[in-house]
Amino acid sequence: MNPLNHVAIIMDGNGRWGLNNKNSRIAGHKAGLYVVEDIINQTLNLKIKYLTLFAFSTENWRRPKKEINYLFSLLEKFLNKNLVKFHKKNIKLKILGRKNFSKKLNNLLLKAEKTTFKNDELQVNLALNYGSKYEIINAIKKIKNSNKKITIENFSQNLLTKNIPDPDLLIRTGNTKRLSNFLLWQLAYAEIFFEKKLWPDFNEKDYLKILNKFRKIKRNFGNI
Ligand code: IPE
Ligand code: IPE
Ligand code: MG
Repeated sequence: MNPLNHVAIIMDGNGRWGLNNKNSRIAGHKAGLYVVEDIINQTLNLKIKYLTLFAFSTENWRRPKKEINYLFSLLEKFLNKNLVKFHKKNIKLKILGRKNFSKKLNNLLLKAEKTTFKNDELQVNLALNYGSKYEIINAIKKIKNSNKKITIENFSQNLLTKNIPDPDLLIRTGNTKRLSNFLLWQLAYAEIFFEKKLWPDFNEKDYLKILNKFRKIKRNFGNI
């Protein structure tokens, strides 16, 4: 049975779900947030230590302003509703990505990080305005400025995921098989599961099924 420390998820398919079910993409984003809550709670119950959720990519700025604004207003509501709950459950929240949103949202994100900083039951990383290529270029710049040697360890320490172990498992919902600029360095040895279901349809049973499959995989890391 493989140990499981860190699950990463590309939560894809909200827009299509919304169009299929309510004739509106943003309805899909709203529905997707209930699944986020469920999956966080289940991860906590399973005593997995890290969960990284891809919520908004550096490329998602290409979307219509209306959809972007709606997404951020949903995120605000989500945090206002859940921050105290998460804190009580000893969950630590961390944002991966540059906080260049509205002042209100930036402050809320900072508050969420500060409030939960010392929590240690589960760390939830929210990849928000996150792009792996940008993160890698930044790490190179930082090492160059520090005059330190370029090693795998030094490099990892200059990524946004500093001190976070690499994901053991990546799940992407939404029936699309690509990484979309997510954790390109960190996923080097992750087991990858592409799930056909759209994110709002994904449920605890689907999650457990994948985790059980993961547990049984023979992970080689180059060995035999
Ligand atoms: C993923 O769902 C959520 C975000 C990118 C915020 P999408 O909005 O990409 O949904 P589809 O892929 O268009 O269905
Ligand atoms: C990846 O999904 C980003 C998030 C889930 C936040 P996208 O739907 O943006 O990915 P592409 O653009 O289809 O590759
Ligand atoms: Mg998508």
